[in-house]
Amino acid sequence: MGLPGPSPRFFFGNSIELFTHERHSAACLAEWTNRFGKIYGYFIGHTPIICISDPDLLQEIFITKFSHFHSRRPLPLQQHDLRHLLASKDDEWRRQRSIIQPTFGINKLKEMRIIMNKCLNELIEQLDKQNPDVEFDISHLLKRTSMNIILNCAFGINPAKHENLSEPFFQRCVQVFEFSLFQTMLTICSILLPELNFLWVSYFKYTSIIRLWLHDHVPFLNRFIDTDPNTWLLFHVENIIKQRQLHGIERVDLLQSMIEATTILQKTSSPSSLPKHYLNQDELSNNIYLFMLGGYETTATALSYLSFILATHQNEQAYLQDEIDRIGDDYEQLIKLEYLDWFIRETLRLYPIAPFIVNRQCNKECQIGDLKIEEGTNITVDMHSIHYDEQLYGPVSPLKFYPERFREKRHPLAWLPFGAGPRNCIGMRFAMLEIKLALVQILRRYTILSGEHTLSRFAEHERFVIAPKNGIWVRLQRRDSPM
Ligand code: HEM
Repeated sequence: MGLPGPSPRFFFGNSIELFTHERHSAACLAEWTNRFGKIYGYFIGHTPIICISDPDLLQEIFITKFSHFHSRRPLPLQQHDLRHLLASKDDEWRRQRSIIQPTFGINKLKEMRIIMNKCLNELIEQLDKQNPDVEFDISHLLKRTSMNIILNCAFGINPAKHENLSEPFFQRCVQVFEFSLFQTMLTICSILLPELNFLWVSYFKYTSIIRLWLHDHVPFLNRFIDTDPNTWLLFHVENIIKQRQLHGIERVDLLQSMIEATTILQKTSSPSSLPKHYLNQDELSNNIYLFMLGGYETTATALSYLSFILATHQNEQAYLQDEIDRIGDDYEQLIKLEYLDWFIRETLRLYPIAPFIVNRQCNKECQIGDLKIEEGTNITVDMHSIHYDEQLYGPVSPLKFYPERFREKRHPLAWLPFGAGPRNCIGMRFAMLEIKLALVQILRRYTILSGEHTLSRFAEHERFVIAPKNGIWVRLQRRDSPM
């Protein structure tokens, strides 16, 4: 295509530099942008990818010409059932999205707020138990809380009451984001030889099902065989849904909203034969499963980064506490708090959590700027270069934490932590509400302080999302305690 880019190696393309970068692959893309400009090409295996950090071009792709780019690049090892949700080539996702979108409407979120606040009260109880003079890793508690919120909000499982039910879910969700040799090897095969994907995916799928069966039916083998956490989660999500339908239980949660928003057909219904406003049973469980995974690690990681920023920016924290103190328990006022909103945006600008999922695949040939894009072309976004661009975020240096920069209207494609356009993150409002409520509860009671290890242990790593590697070490000071 005549685009510049790093020289690819035979068979591997540029995968080695990308996946072994000392920080993470997003930093590698930003280095290439520095060398080759705002549009260049690189190869994952022999698959060409166009990387863009020009916001005007991205606006064309993500918004103006969205009908040519409604698909995402399939994840390696992604099974067919989830393809429709994450990377569909047709517009299956559009039907599902139009059914699911109302689940995250303003009125539903108001109901969710009550559940979220209950889980946050439990977080505060845990924080109260911390010794104020001793530094601790707050990210563990934030992960638990985020999991509790998603379990409660997605299917009404209250971990405080049903520990035996919620604990395995928590453990499996944690495992999804941990390193697994077996999965990594197959992922590498899938990246380097995508033509044989049917083989890698089937091998992965069927060995996972066999491991799950052995795990459940031959307990003696549990010490030697571990189940694939994704297969385990999907299977148990299906079970919960079946129970709910069987007993006609009604609750205030995302699952209930989804059941109400649709009529569930039998398992045999193929997506192409479904009428516009239906979800079949598999689609229902896949969506709930995606909410769990999409909503747990990302939101917990956002709260971890926020704790780090709070501990290392005392003036900004004091300003935020001032703003929070001025409102009571009024929900309408909470969502209008300006500085709180800027504070979160600025943190996610500096530390975007899931940059790699923001990509598109062209599904109809078209012209973007001077470039003719053919069907099947993969486009990825260099989010770091955009988020740290002087022209988009100046005049105050984009390296500085400065929430007030959002007082000014910025380019619509300059802030991308939740993606952009009609296919952006469906849980964005849910996540922002959860984060805001968490900050309000925590900062009303405590000031987050830094300790000896806050900066020295801070490091990032990439396990699908980019997250702090060694936790976030902080101290807490009760605001009502004498200094
Ligand atoms: C701070 C928290 C979160 C971050 C940073 C985040 C980030 C993202 C990003 C970057 C995308 C891709 C968007 C694009 O391609 O334009 C995405 C998609 C998605 N997210 Fe989130 N997310 C968060 C929370 C949540 C929550 C709480 C849920 C559900 C309860 C959720 C469910 C999803 C789903 C289902 C998709 C796929 C949407 C589609 O393809 O139509 N996310 N998320």
